[in-house]
Amino acid sequence: MPAIAFVNGRWSLLSSARVSVEDRGFQFGDGVYELIRTYGSGLFRSLDHLARLQESAQAIGLTVPYSSSQIARILQRGCDKAGFHNTKVYIQVTRGAAPRVHPFPKGTRPTFVATFRRLTPISQTVRRLGVALICVPDIRWDRCDIKSLNLLPNVLAKQQAVEAGAFEAIFVREGKVTEGSGSNLFAVFGKKVVTPPVNPTLLSGVTRNVVLELIAQTGNTPTEAPLTVSQLHKADEIFLTGTTIEILPVVSLDGKPIGRGRPGDTTQHLYHLFQAYARTV
Ligand code: PDD
Repeated sequence: MPAIAFVNGRWSLLSSARVSVEDRGFQFGDGVYELIRTYGSGLFRSLDHLARLQESAQAIGLTVPYSSSQIARILQRGCDKAGFHNTKVYIQVTRGAAPRVHPFPKGTRPTFVATFRRLTPISQTVRRLGVALICVPDIRWDRCDIKSLNLLPNVLAKQQAVEAGAFEAIFVREGKVTEGSGSNLFAVFGKKVVTPPVNPTLLSGVTRNVVLELIAQTGNTPTEAPLTVSQLHKADEIFLTGTTIEILPVVSLDGKPIGRGRPGDTTQHLYHLFQAYARTV
């Protein structure tokens, strides 16, 4: 089954989907996006993702051409048409195609794209072994809470991680860790689970919020507090969260082992709770 796309109301194979070279997403990165996955036919926390899409668009003065309920119907239709067991749904909204001048164009229709591909999960071997992290300076802007298309610093950071033999790069701003290039970060100290607080230096991840809810359901109170790099080195466990990685154990930071250098019990427990929860949506 091939991947498919929805571009401004038209369905096609992803391989033949097209937008203009004058699209402001291509010219300026002038747009926002979301990534949602399914578990079977169910879109995971789509209301949260679609609310964040509208918030991101609003923050950059862009009107999404469909309501969240209309988008939800398009997404469900796309998943049904594509017919994959688990689908990776990418949504991108840009300020549309117009001659390349910086100010917002007048009367230009935004571009709305949704693509539907087979989701390839993280391998069980990677999950079992855990992953390595490196720290990099956070050279991004002051609105990392907006899921904007401008991902060059994230791309460069992830490439640096790959070249260092690591899975993810963690951004550091004024000595404090914020998030990964495409994930949120949690640390475990004894029974205490800590994650940096939501503010404009990081994205309020949907998976992050689910994990906070699951921790609260276990009777534990998660802590949202700033974390320095040196505190992170002393963590018993670290894990990453994100739509496709779910909850991923970390076993080293900048080449030094975290805790006992293998996935921790709290991380594993939360992963199992998360799997059970995900299959109910
Ligand atoms: N990224 N922080 C950043 C910078 C991200 O790009 C992402 C997700 C997250 C986790 O958010 P969520 O749990 O809602 O997926 C945190 C997606 C997966 C991406 O860009 O491909």
